[in-house]
Amino acid sequence: MKKKWWKESVVYQIYPRSFKDSNADGIGDIKGITEKLEYIKELGVDVVWISPVYDSPCDDNGYDISDYKAILKEFGTMEEFDTMLDTAHHLGLKVIMDLVVNHTSDEHRWFVESSKSKDNPYRDYYIWRTSKNGKEPNNWGASFGGSAWEYDEKTDMYYLHLFSRKQPDLNWENQKVRDEVFEMMDWWCQKGIDGFRMDVISMISKVQSFPDGELNGGLYGNGSPYYINGPRVHEYLQEMNQKVLSKYDLITVGEAAGVTIEEAIKYANENETELNMVFQFEHVSIGDGELGKWTTKRFDLQELKKVMTKWQTKLQGKAWNSLYLGNHDQPRSVSRFGNDKVEYREVSAKMLATCIHMMQGTPYIYQGEELGMTNAYFDKIEEYRDIETLNIYEELTSSGLISKEEMMKCIQARGRDNARTPMQWDDSEYAGFSTVKPWINVNKNYKRINAKEQLKRHDSVFRYYQKLIQLRKEYDIIPYGDYTLMEEDHKQIFAYKREYDNNKLLVILNFTDKEAQMSLPEEFMGKHVKCLISNYDRQVIQKNVVLMPYEALVLYI
Ligand code: NOJ
Repeated sequence: MKKKWWKESVVYQIYPRSFKDSNADGIGDIKGITEKLEYIKELGVDVVWISPVYDSPCDDNGYDISDYKAILKEFGTMEEFDTMLDTAHHLGLKVIMDLVVNHTSDEHRWFVESSKSKDNPYRDYYIWRTSKNGKEPNNWGASFGGSAWEYDEKTDMYYLHLFSRKQPDLNWENQKVRDEVFEMMDWWCQKGIDGFRMDVISMISKVQSFPDGELNGGLYGNGSPYYINGPRVHEYLQEMNQKVLSKYDLITVGEAAGVTIEEAIKYANENETELNMVFQFEHVSIGDGELGKWTTKRFDLQELKKVMTKWQTKLQGKAWNSLYLGNHDQPRSVSRFGNDKVEYREVSAKMLATCIHMMQGTPYIYQGEELGMTNAYFDKIEEYRDIETLNIYEELTSSGLISKEEMMKCIQARGRDNARTPMQWDDSEYAGFSTVKPWINVNKNYKRINAKEQLKRHDSVFRYYQKLIQLRKEYDIIPYGDYTLMEEDHKQIFAYKREYDNNKLLVILNFTDKEAQMSLPEEFMGKHVKCLISNYDRQVIQKNVVLMPYEALVLYI
């Protein structure tokens, strides 16, 4: 396996709207990010991924871009962006941008032109189709509810939008579109950015006959077999790689919902003809039910072990993994996979961090995860801001598929706003995020859970993350070692072994709030064994270890 700097890196994700407000308008901004770069540096990460800061009407908080080369006014100016980039580079931090090119905003100049007439030079930049039998061109549903097709009266045709109707899909079949995207990417690389996180990149190629999807009892057909890992996606990414990516030393990660092992091996192959790695979704889809992610069901540990192990072992030597439990689309990891009750929150947040950071791949930390920030548990729909949550709440409850009460519980468990409440910097009003009421409420627990408090304490979640990141820098076995699942059938424990050269690492994680017993393998007994990290300050290690609730233990020989 080739050694690469991006395989040894840890990435920190910033969601700008909720990170730090520097100008008292209740909205996070670029200057706010610059102010907090020292904090990120102190954590020890190498790379910062910034969710979209481009000009946008913000129908989907910036994932609907109206100008790829301009900064959203609420977030600041291009000069402020340049200052932020320089400051990051001075601190030794790399910066990766979110590349959102499956779709633009309907307010993007290209779409404004495209919708003017059927013969406009930009018409073919988007996916226009005529009606079929007096209805939409096919039965696909959009991710944020409703049909994936929007009718345009002026030209009597429909355009495709896999997300909101304000996010029309670009037509990647058109060489001009690809060239525009590549030119824009090159422009950002020339500016000195260090890579891209590519939004829903597995969806850019669609089956051109646009067949109906299966209904599965839902209101709309599931079109995903016809647009996820579509027929030309690898060809497009290879072209992108040849024309842009290969000219720079970048880190690239593709968001790839629906990606399989076989596909991931193509996207993130060791020869680097496409991307460095992808975000797969299997582990964050465990427990999904009839209404997709809208469920209160918790994950099953056996399932989690199976999925994680599959990705660890099947990509081994063939492609590189990304490692994550949370991001701006997922609930807070400690609430979902750990336990956010006061007595277990810190210890379980540390256990989860150990689980991810000791695996092979590049770990991603989502802002606030390093503090063990929790779900918001807002109980009124008026408190939510996310277009997905609001649209689906309306759609599912009005169609009678679920009651309002049940749906609120699902949103509390799985809604995206759980991750989008303001970063908790200190215990002052609005958690030090802003001096005025923020665009979305602060989590009520900010007085107890905040960065200022954790920086004062040597045993905080923040300090534990720091240590994990440091270990990755010191031990090659952590990024590069081979992975083997241990204790496959254990009901409480997730344990795995890593091997590299003559070294071995044993990671033992109790995923429950009860004590858990395990018998250590002989090779991990004796004086030569070192405990690299533990969330309980464990001193004595016996053959029969009894792990405390949510205990994490890493042994090294
Ligand atoms: C994935 C992004 O992470 C999410 O926030 C966004 O809503 C969709 N893609 C559409 O761009």
